[in-house]
Amino acid sequence: MQGKFITIEGTEGVGKTTNIEFIQHWLNRRGVEFVSTREPGGTPLAEQVRELLLTPREEKVGDSTELLLMFAGRAQHLDQVILPALDSGTSVLCDRFTDASYAYQGFGREMDCSLIAKLEQIVQGDLRPDLTLILDIPVEIGLKRASERSTPDRFEQEQIEFFDRVRQGYLKIAEENPERCTVIDASQSLDQVQASIEAVLENFYSQASATE
Ligand code: TMP
Repeated sequence: MQGKFITIEGTEGVGKTTNIEFIQHWLNRRGVEFVSTREPGGTPLAEQVRELLLTPREEKVGDSTELLLMFAGRAQHLDQVILPALDSGTSVLCDRFTDASYAYQGFGREMDCSLIAKLEQIVQGDLRPDLTLILDIPVEIGLKRASERSTPDRFEQEQIEFFDRVRQGYLKIAEENPERCTVIDASQSLDQVQASIEAVLENFYSQASATE
């Protein structure tokens, strides 16, 4: 089977890490060859860009600077990891991708989404994920979980209104891309969340094998 590009998205504290582990186990059980990676990051250089982006600092980071750094890391990640994997038939499981740029920079920072679309075209051409799981939770619950976990990074220091816009952004992306995106209610119990994820994966892989 051709390599598939699967992305996981959601606001802070939504449970991405635990559910990515669940997906990794599921793919292993299915015998799917895959690489697991993340954005921002995924290569040594792109991980340095991640550090630049997440480290809280006194200097104000301009919105365009933030957006361009996201896409600089992404270009490197695509070139070094994502495209070589997909080209060799290996699937890619990615913790965040360009939907995060629309949700955080477009909706959160209220930047012009057509600018993001231009960068997307330059950096990715027509490449889009085959499947995107958007874990959704009320932002107050997610932020509380995230704050119990570690000291806040530069994004986690944002106000609740910012994350509300990000969440609405993700829901809008899902609405506009129903063939690719599934929203999972992450406020359910972990067992229920994982049963929902499993059902989506089963459906996705059975359709993929039927069309090949
Ligand atoms: P993480 O905490 O999920 O590892 O992600 C790091 C932060 O980067 C998270 O707050 C979302 C943010 N981000 C963007 O703002 N735009 C992007 O394009 C990506 C990939 C992440």
